Amino acid sequence: MNSTTSVVLRGTGSALPVRVMRNDEFAATLETSDEWIRTRTGIRERRIAAPEETSISLAIDASQKALEAARLPAHELDLIICATVTPVLMTPSNANYLQAALGCRPIPSFDLTAACTGFLYSISVATQFIQNGAARNVLVVGSETLSRVIDFTDRNSCILFGDGAGAIVLSASTEPNVGVRRTHLYSDGKGAHLIHVPALVSKHTGPIQGVPTSPEFLRMNGREVFRFAVHRMAELMAKAIRDCRELGTEMKLLIPHQVNRRIIDAALEQTGFPADRVMVNLDRYGNTSAASVPIALDEAIREGRTHPGDTVVLVAFGGGLTWGSVILTL
Ligand code: UT7
Repeated sequence: MNSTTSVVLRGTGSALPVRVMRNDEFAATLETSDEWIRTRTGIRERRIAAPEETSISLAIDASQKALEAARLPAHELDLIICATVTPVLMTPSNANYLQAALGCRPIPSFDLTAACTGFLYSISVATQFIQNGAARNVLVVGSETLSRVIDFTDRNSCILFGDGAGAIVLSASTEPNVGVRRTHLYSDGKGAHLIHVPALVSKHTGPIQGVPTSPEFLRMNGREVFRFAVHRMAELMAKAIRDCRELGTEMKLLIPHQVNRRIIDAALEQTGFPADRVMVNLDRYGNTSAASVPIALDEAIREGRTHPGDTVVLVAFGGGLTWGSVILTL
């Protein structure tokens, strides 16, 4: 990047619904088993939002933790971006609700939709706001309640998804060679039919009343998306390894979008990247779409898997089709 302003990660937070849904619960109503789900995906359980938990309430919880970790009062935020494919309403945006709930000044806030790559797209947008001087402190959130748009009778898709939120605070800094070093974003609408939600209206029954229920659910061609995911993830990783070399740094930890352990393993095999330097928590949360990378990043930092000065690489892929990566020095 050309700008002399660095965009540093100042704090992270995450929030998950209380209810844990284990694989066995699917076997009660579907022709599936814990063994099939574990061996084909690596997922053991996921979190499912209660009626009063929404992609707004989870976002508020994750954001408060991120602001606390950043030691930044909410009134010092200049922008909020919330990546989500499961907003509570089409408008106002989840980000508008966040702005009010956190007690921010009347700053810009908006949702961004790029499916499972949405959080990385949002980091890129936030970085550009900061580097062109329009913002100093930006809250970037990924928050989802996929359980409200999945068809629990479709064993090909329902076993993969879960609910949750992750948030980060990005800030301007004059320190060189830290923060967001590079971002790469892509999309190819020719693959739009491979994973889609035909009409998203939340089935939310909590504090915002009167929202109609949609009969339409997420549909996915799992096998095709799997093929796309392995190809693009390996490509992004190979590029990230080259980028790190050019930047004079090393990829200490890879934080990939969490969907299926077999996708991660296949990409590792193609690139030769060591498995012990990959953050994986899909066994506990499944695929939380735009929330998966920030939740994994928050856990990696809180578990001490990364330290200041380390370069981590975020990689995501999903509906759109979309895919992308972010190289971040902590
Ligand atoms: O974030 C969005 C990105 N989404 C993804 O990245 C999804 C990527 N795709 C996947 O993770 C995998 O394709 C799935 C986990 C969805 C499916 O696994 P798979 O190994 O690709 O299975 P498959 O679709 O090739 O199906 C193999 C068999 C089929 O049966 P037949 O036709 O061989 O008799 C499926 O009907 O497995 C069957 N099957 C299941 N069996 C038991 C599919 N889902 C299930 C299930 N339990 N839950």
